[in-house]
Amino acid sequence: MAILEALNWRYAVREFSDMKLSDETIAELVEATRLSPSAYGLQPYKLLVVKSPEVKNKLLPYAMGQTKVRDCSHLFILTVNTIIDAQFIEQHFAHVERERCLDAGELAGFTQHVKEVMLSMSVEQLQHWAENQVHIALGNLLTTAALKQVDACPMAGFEKQGFDQVLGLTEQGQKSAVICALGERAVTDTSSSERKVRLPANNFSLEI
Ligand SMILES: Cc1cc2nc3c(=O)[nH]c(=O)nc-3n(C[C@H](O)[C@H](O)[C@H](O)COP(=O)(O)O)c2cc1C
Repeated sequence: MAILEALNWRYAVREFSDMKLSDETIAELVEATRLSPSAYGLQPYKLLVVKSPEVKNKLLPYAMGQTKVRDCSHLFILTVNTIIDAQFIEQHFAHVERERCLDAGELAGFTQHVKEVMLSMSVEQLQHWAENQVHIALGNLLTTAALKQVDACPMAGFEKQGFDQVLGLTEQGQKSAVICALGERAVTDTSSSERKVRLPANNFSLEI
């Protein structure tokens, strides 16, 4: 599917069918999400893929009535790191050194620079920064899903603390940021025929 055709085809699905996505499709969506860019490459987030009906049912009371959390094929939960500190940044650049076959410490100067930039932020600012990064991954996920004609609904309307507790995220140094239900639109989902509403093109971008 051509990119603009795919982006016009997709919409935030209200109602999912019973269809289950294949492991292969899910693996490709996970990989597209993993390949997302992030500032300094730090990727201060993780992805939890919920397939289990039992877990989805446990999450439902915290989904603000959004039953698609239960009815979708797979629920992707994008979580952000609760601790972004010097050690996290050092570990990231040590990983880069290993992956790129650099000498240990070769990136020490840049690592120091990144630590100075990042750690000048308050904890709240760091969490906000991490949530900005994870939304880039959400965008990649949504675009990839559209290109593969996999239906999706991104969701911020859920009780994060409830999700964190059900999924044991705090113990893993993570907290939920945004979720995305994936599957196939139900034939009864009338939202699929609603006109897509965006800012008019002539009021959106400006060429100077
Ligand atoms: C970060 C984010 C959070 C969203 N949260 C919800 C949500 O909780 N429930 C929902 O039904 N749609 C949610 N949406 C979907 C938007 O309402 C939808 O994308 C927007 O109205 C544009 O419509 P379209 O995606 O169908 O083209 C969310 C979208 C984004 C990007």
